[in-house]
Amino acid sequence: MKATVIWKHGGPDVLSYQEIKDPEPEKDHVIIRVNYCAVNHLDIWVRTGLPDKTISFPHVLGGDICGTLVDGFGNFRKGEKVVVYPAVESDAPRVSFSIIGGFNKYQGGYAELIQVPKRNIVKKPSWLTDVEASSLNISYLTAWNMLERSRCKKDDTILIWGANSGVGSAAILLAKAKGLKIITVTSDKNKFDLAKKLGADFVIDRTKSEVSTEVLKHTNGEGVNAVIDHVGSKTWPVSIDVLKIGGRVIACGTTTGAEATVNIRSFYSKEGQIIGAYLGSKSQLISLHRFMKLKRIRPIVDSVFELKDTSLAHQKMEQSSQFGKIVLKTSS
Ligand SMILES: NC(=O)c1ccc[n+]([C@@H]2O[C@H](COP(=O)([O-])OP(=O)(O)OC[C@H]3O[C@@H](n4cnc5c(N)ncnc54)[C@H](OP(=O)(O)O)[C@@H]3O)[C@@H](O)[C@H]2O)c1
Repeated sequence: MKATVIWKHGGPDVLSYQEIKDPEPEKDHVIIRVNYCAVNHLDIWVRTGLPDKTISFPHVLGGDICGTLVDGFGNFRKGEKVVVYPAVESDAPRVSFSIIGGFNKYQGGYAELIQVPKRNIVKKPSWLTDVEASSLNISYLTAWNMLERSRCKKDDTILIWGANSGVGSAAILLAKAKGLKIITVTSDKNKFDLAKKLGADFVIDRTKSEVSTEVLKHTNGEGVNAVIDHVGSKTWPVSIDVLKIGGRVIACGTTTGAEATVNIRSFYSKEGQIIGAYLGSKSQLISLHRFMKLKRIRPIVDSVFELKDTSLAHQKMEQSSQFGKIVLKTSS
């Protein structure tokens, strides 16, 4: 089969589109013909490598998969369209699990075929295209989990960093449908307008104004009920500063680094909370599907690249020039 493989860590040039051996089904696993695999920032971490993580090479990236079952099992038919819940350990207890194609032995979905545990298979939402369905399993599931953990109620105000990102754009769409007031942050005019169109009530261009000043101005000096922070060291100090009394920072990512210096006094005097979020459970993925169907929400897809052009897709994400999900078309 064709796949995009890495033989070592490095820049986009280490992504090699080539012929590799088809996977052979192991016990309790099933083979899927991958139709589309969305790109996530995790794929960039795996490609570049992280100091405390190891993988064996060659490795196939990609955990955000929509495809077709090569064989049926249980209630699933041969040829049925499915998506893959990407956490490789069991749904509960949710500790130390890892994402398919990530820092583990599971080969990912940047390939024509993939082997996954049968328990990870979920019916594809029938009202979505395959491209759209491939976009939900990581960014949207994480945003959904973060919003649930934020305990925000209708009319609460939430700050969402990175309007154009996978997690950020998902959080805006879902938060809007939950009736929250949304302040979001972006870094150029084009993304600014798209964020407004998506449903943000107030968009801050972080290249033109100071985010904390703007948030306080827009909330009559009170601050926000919650912050969706996937950016890390550069944003944590502001995320804590803009909380209102009893506010929560929900954190899931470290795009700008994993260590931050924050104002502890500002944090405790507001009785703030910092809450971590890691993906979400399989049952949350199913409830996300139901919610999106009920609210008629379709994920935002920025672009679709051919599998042979994976390096261009990665470059686009590294330049942050997308708005929404970048997806790879994996089968011809
Ligand atoms: N814990 C989990 O389960 C989980 C799940 C999904 C994702 N994540 C993590 O969440 C993060 C986002 O993932 P993604 O796939 O959505 O990434 P992405 O689409 O590549 O988006 C990255 C975002 O970071 C923003 N950003 C970069 N530097 C910034 C700065 N200095 N200040 C403010 N914003 C900045 C960019 O906005 P600009 O264009 O304005 O720079 C962009 O919106 C990644 O770190 C990923 O690993 C974690």
